[in-house]
Amino acid sequence: MNRQSWRGLTLALMLGASAGALASTAACAQAPAAAPASRPWLDPKLDADARADLAVKAMTQDEKLTVIFGYFGADMGTKYKRIAEALPGSAGYIPGIERLGIPAQFQTDAGVGVATQGGEPKKRERTSLPSGIASTATWNPDLAQAGGAMIGSEARDSGFNVMLAGGINLTREPRNGRNFEYGGEDPWLAGRMVGAQIKGIQSNAIVSTIKHYALNGQETGRFVLDAKIGEADARTSDLLAFQFAIEDSDPHSVMCSYNRVNGDYACENDFLLNKVLKQDWAYKGYVMSDWGATHSGAKAVNAGLDQESGAEAFDKQTFFRAPLKDALAKGEVTQARLDDMARRILRSLFASGVVEKPVKITTIDYAAHAKVTRADAEEGVVLLKNDKGLLPLVASAKKIVVIGGHADVGVLSGGGSSQVYPIGGRAVTGEGPASWPGPMIYFPSSPLKALKARLPGADIQFADGKDKAAAAKLAAGADVVLVFATQWNGESFDSPLTLENDQDALIDAVASANAKTVAVLETGGPVLMPWLSKVGGVVEAWYPGSEGGEAIARVLTGEVDASGRLPVTFPASLDQLPRPTLDGDPKKPDDLFAVDYTIEGAAVGYKWFDKKGHQPLFAFGHGLSYTTFAYENLKAEAKGDALTVSFDVKNTGKRTGKAVPQVYVSPKAGGWEAPQRLAGFKKVELAPGASTKVTLTVDPRLLATWNEKAHGWSVAAGDYTLSLGASSRDTAAKADVAVAARSLPVGLMKP
Ligand code: BGC
Repeated sequence: MNRQSWRGLTLALMLGASAGALASTAACAQAPAAAPASRPWLDPKLDADARADLAVKAMTQDEKLTVIFGYFGADMGTKYKRIAEALPGSAGYIPGIERLGIPAQFQTDAGVGVATQGGEPKKRERTSLPSGIASTATWNPDLAQAGGAMIGSEARDSGFNVMLAGGINLTREPRNGRNFEYGGEDPWLAGRMVGAQIKGIQSNAIVSTIKHYALNGQETGRFVLDAKIGEADARTSDLLAFQFAIEDSDPHSVMCSYNRVNGDYACENDFLLNKVLKQDWAYKGYVMSDWGATHSGAKAVNAGLDQESGAEAFDKQTFFRAPLKDALAKGEVTQARLDDMARRILRSLFASGVVEKPVKITTIDYAAHAKVTRADAEEGVVLLKNDKGLLPLVASAKKIVVIGGHADVGVLSGGGSSQVYPIGGRAVTGEGPASWPGPMIYFPSSPLKALKARLPGADIQFADGKDKAAAAKLAAGADVVLVFATQWNGESFDSPLTLENDQDALIDAVASANAKTVAVLETGGPVLMPWLSKVGGVVEAWYPGSEGGEAIARVLTGEVDASGRLPVTFPASLDQLPRPTLDGDPKKPDDLFAVDYTIEGAAVGYKWFDKKGHQPLFAFGHGLSYTTFAYENLKAEAKGDALTVSFDVKNTGKRTGKAVPQVYVSPKAGGWEAPQRLAGFKKVELAPGASTKVTLTVDPRLLATWNEKAHGWSVAAGDYTLSLGASSRDTAAKADVAVAARSLPVGLMKP
């Protein structure tokens, strides 16, 4: 099925006004225009606001209407042909204004690298980071920033100046097919990690988005579902994640989502766009719609949408063309608002550096980039279970059996618009859907080959796992068995939490034959593990990207420590979830329905599990290391407005490793959405016997509740308990601290 029909959208054949007729060509992005006195907005010494004001004053009405209207950059069969100026297979294109020296906007997906939507496979090949959830599992913002900087440079060197990355929808629904693109279930962790990635992308003088704003929590019915939630709950959960990331990284664009929120579509939602984003947070960039998420002209514009994306290919009408002109003529949209739309877009082009540093297609150093993605992938691998020290694989292991998951040839990746095409071609073909949201792609980085290279003395055999009995027989005599299992997730569909293609039975059969079995999972997010008690070890490797096989082998062999930690709760069963049955019917994509987020409110993920007293399969924050750590001397101090927490971390084991101490906070008086919130974390590397002192400052909003009356945050005076440990369910030490009452502004606070 193609991308368009999956979206259930009608193609608008309104190709009357061609992009070429309206404005310039790609060439205008190639050379920075000089700043003669007649074009003062091109003076880089002025700030972006002043430059945008000057440019908008000089623009004609047609030029303003040009920069707010986006084209899809890829062909859609016979139904839509990309315009010639767009880069082939790209997500989008907005013409520049040559007369004014304003470059065209060349848009590319997305969060793991330069993703394309068709075209010649060889030309589509780029480096892929591990999935967003895998990068978040590193709990290492420096790696997220380095990864962002790397993919942003590939975007720039591929000719793109707008990268549609920055996915930060909280994991409200573990079955959400796009969880792999996002930053997990906690606003602070997601905000820090996704913010760091955006900062990295924008360090290349290009625009990054943050998306999908907001409450786009599942793929089933994504074009129609109405997310019901109270204001305080939204502000304390999903919106807070956006707020933290925006504060950290100042993304130049926000992408509004497909779904409705409390009745209105997100891209025509006055509360989300005008009130929260632009008024409360004083956001200065522009809002672009998701592709097919614009539903009106005047209503959307007046609610705060600044740019219609992929309009001719995806929207029911080209709303920002004739309908908007009509609305302007009738006074339903003011000229001042159109000026504001153009101004915001231009401001972002000036503020990002896109105008001064035009993008240019040039050679990419893939070898250097492979190291960046490998470092990210290996720190994201989470060792969930490791009985009797099965891992790391010891040099004395003579016979190792590797089974399943195409581990002989590659590693899985997630499907949909964020799909990056692998350098060297696809490792597996003929599995999964051939077209949107496929194809299902395995990157040609083989865990088996990477293991063999590291363990030359061992006899390592592989079975594809299709024949369970044969796999079990081969496993029976081995020193260690590694069963690889995959679950393909992608945009436009949700996934059950069970492994497909009988893989649960395969793991069960192999583990029954040999208890020294380690399950290595390549999944988009949490899965259930009916075989858990039978296996000796479990490793969550997510979708590990271009160098995934190397990264997995480095962790399995102990060349590096296992240092990932879960950014999501793994439930033990579906009935532990706020919605045991997923709302909506994939077979009826046009039927309107609501998803009731008032059930859990702001108690997303571990907060729900804590509140309900559910025992998860694996808790948020969990992950083992190959060494052991002690957490000591916890002190919490409230001084003036700052709450600081300090403690010592000591490596008490025999090898170098990385700890991720986590601090959770709870009010003694209760009254929050859940018993505790993550208040801070830090990843530290320590040699055996070494220790280090960590000091964290707790963001005051993590101590506060939303005060609707005051339209701001309130911290209640009282005693708060800070718990330090290795996960949300592990406490090594506790400290109480008295905190004074405090009011906090609704707006952005600089970190
Ligand atoms: C996705 C966005 C993406 C856009 C452009 C949509 O289907 O939801 O995340 O950026 O397409 O390809």
